Amino acid sequence: MRMISLLLMLFVGMGYAEIPVIPRPQTVHEQKGSYVVQDSMTVKSDMSLNPYLIDAFRECAGLKLLCTNASPDLMLSKDAAFEKIGSYKLVIEPDGMVLSAKDRSGMIYGMQTLLQLITDRQLQHPNDPVELRAMIITDAPRFEWRGMHLDVSRHFYPADYIKDYIDFLVQHKMNVFHWHLTDDQGWRIEINAYPKLTKVAAWRKGTGQQDWNYEIEAAEPGEPRYGGFYTQEEVREIVDYAQQRGVTIVPEIEMPGHSWAALYAYPELSCSGEPWVKPDSVVFEFSDPFCAGNEQTFEFLETVLDEVINLFPSEFIHIGGDEAKKSPWEHCRKCQKRMQEKGLDNVHELQSWFIRRIQKFVNSRGRRMIGWDEILQGGLAPGAAVMSWRGFAGGLQAARAGHDVVMAPSQFVYLNRVQGDPQFEPFGSRPALDVKTVYGFDPIPAELSGDAQDHILGGQGCLWTEHIPDTARLEYMLFPRLLALSEALWTQPDSKSYDHFYPRMARRLLALSGQGVNFRRPVPGGLPERVLFKSDTSVTLVNPLKTLGAQVHYTLDGEKPDVDSPVYSETVRLTDSAVLKARLRFPDGSFSNTIRALFHKIDPAVNGLMCEYYAGGPWVQLPDFAGLNPLRTERVQEIGPDAVAHRDDQYALRFTGELTIAHDDTLTFYTSSDDGSHLIINGKTIVMNDGVHGTVTKTGRVYLTAGRHDLCVEFFDAQYGQVLEVGTLTNNGENLPLSPSNLYFKEQ
Ligand code: ACM
Ligand code: ZN
Repeated sequence: MRMISLLLMLFVGMGYAEIPVIPRPQTVHEQKGSYVVQDSMTVKSDMSLNPYLIDAFRECAGLKLLCTNASPDLMLSKDAAFEKIGSYKLVIEPDGMVLSAKDRSGMIYGMQTLLQLITDRQLQHPNDPVELRAMIITDAPRFEWRGMHLDVSRHFYPADYIKDYIDFLVQHKMNVFHWHLTDDQGWRIEINAYPKLTKVAAWRKGTGQQDWNYEIEAAEPGEPRYGGFYTQEEVREIVDYAQQRGVTIVPEIEMPGHSWAALYAYPELSCSGEPWVKPDSVVFEFSDPFCAGNEQTFEFLETVLDEVINLFPSEFIHIGGDEAKKSPWEHCRKCQKRMQEKGLDNVHELQSWFIRRIQKFVNSRGRRMIGWDEILQGGLAPGAAVMSWRGFAGGLQAARAGHDVVMAPSQFVYLNRVQGDPQFEPFGSRPALDVKTVYGFDPIPAELSGDAQDHILGGQGCLWTEHIPDTARLEYMLFPRLLALSEALWTQPDSKSYDHFYPRMARRLLALSGQGVNFRRPVPGGLPERVLFKSDTSVTLVNPLKTLGAQVHYTLDGEKPDVDSPVYSETVRLTDSAVLKARLRFPDGSFSNTIRALFHKIDPAVNGLMCEYYAGGPWVQLPDFAGLNPLRTERVQEIGPDAVAHRDDQYALRFTGELTIAHDDTLTFYTSSDDGSHLIINGKTIVMNDGVHGTVTKTGRVYLTAGRHDLCVEFFDAQYGQVLEVGTLTNNGENLPLSPSNLYFKEQ
């Protein structure tokens, strides 16, 4: 018996067969033969057939599904024996296919697997019939909460696009859409009891932050207003759309902070009774919160929540709770009175009281409250769930205290961050979050043991949209990282491997490209940032998608590579200074971002600058170097903080030498620095970029004749970041750091 089953297993293939499906299914066993998919496929189901699935086949694979009572090509059946919600088994045999599932969601997931197999096959063999290898796939999700968030407050996206976004989740077996509907920058949901939320709070002028489309999207001609909102009718339609696809929409109404839009429309609900105004000099600050001492606040919030609860069937209602500025409560008569009456010692306890009161209300309507991890401050009533965004700590604390948790640690899942080296990434905030890091996300950290693990419902990605004004950029930020996230939340840890994910990811990107979805193309690897060499050097580039037929195009003259530029095939040897630029050409003909490396040929005996190192401070502007003594003087080859090896917390640098210019020309110089910097050529200030600040770039223009010129760069670092770059702007406006081969020690 054992012998027979062993032989049988060998025959059908014991190992896991890799198939182009994301997220990776639990088990895949290849069988003998293959099944040819017909353009019109008959289907029979013992569950009520979801009309959406028929549409999905037509839209995605161009196939028709025809219902039949006879022997079908595809049999759909319910099988209660599966253990987990969402489980399914897909059997592909030469004479037909059977998809059995625990429930409706499992049916949807099994169909997504089948659709991905079909679309991939169509792409790989566009002129052939769709032939699928016979196989048996059994699959089930690891986590019950596989979520993705979207901030529609910073930027607004039309109702129809929200459906596309939900489709992205469905296609990758994600099942929660966290809809961030309100924030400082705009209120986005119609509330019948408070019409000013959509008349006033949904429309606004620029915030002093960036990328608002207020000129394009002016609500009234001549009025630079930006915004929009979803009517209750649209919300109902979207909720219904999501429900058909097995996606739960968790609505978020932010409180007590991040509520400026609402308070602008209803200022009587703030402590001051006046709308909060951002002082011009302030770059970013949290807005004032709802007044916690005013009963009208709760009347407002409960009425809003009632309308929201009526629209959304979700078990969980998200009430925000993050980053609330509490100082206005300290100075508010009503809030102070509330604290006295309730015996609250400080404003943190007042926030906790606020949240508990809202939680009671949400529970009274038969729902559960979830909030960002700040709701833990001052204590949280049982039954509330926590969304951990400031790393894992809040989630761990909450799970150990018996609260359910959704992990959304920013360092793993904030998809608004740049996807690679910020120098070459057009969009996103720092620090970087690459696809590999997202792939490595595990909502259950190793230190969480036993029962507490059961409180981790799952994980979620977040997309904050202050810098995402349109859907093309939104998709650029989403893909491919959403693919990595879906696998991190669906697939068991011991089945995960970035190495086998990567080629599947590339194939999936091709399919998305075919659907007209935008995405970030991987860039070539292996390029150093900068190389100083004496006689010659070489560079080896890596094509991350070689197997898919992608090509790396490169240039050595500073021009942006295009389809006519050389295709990289072997190590490039350089005997002169060069700017190497490279881009990946994706098989669909599109290009990745351009990456760049600077190769400088130098003679260490003559090239370079003298660098004086000064410790001291604290300085708030560049010190008077003439009145100071340098601690050290070093010969360096480059301008920048890294030119000196050992630095104190606060220090200043002064680089001196000569700069060679090839042709008579008017040049635009820049300094980019954190903190202050100063560029002096031939004794004259060209760029003054002084003061304590983050990375700031300033420019200056000067006519220089061919030949050598006295150069001096001064810099100081006060705190936090250390950045210093000096260079010229190219005709395309690109920053080109000064080449070490043009810097010379000054002859004494
Ligand atoms: C958040 O990112 N403030 C939840
Ligand atoms: Zn108050």
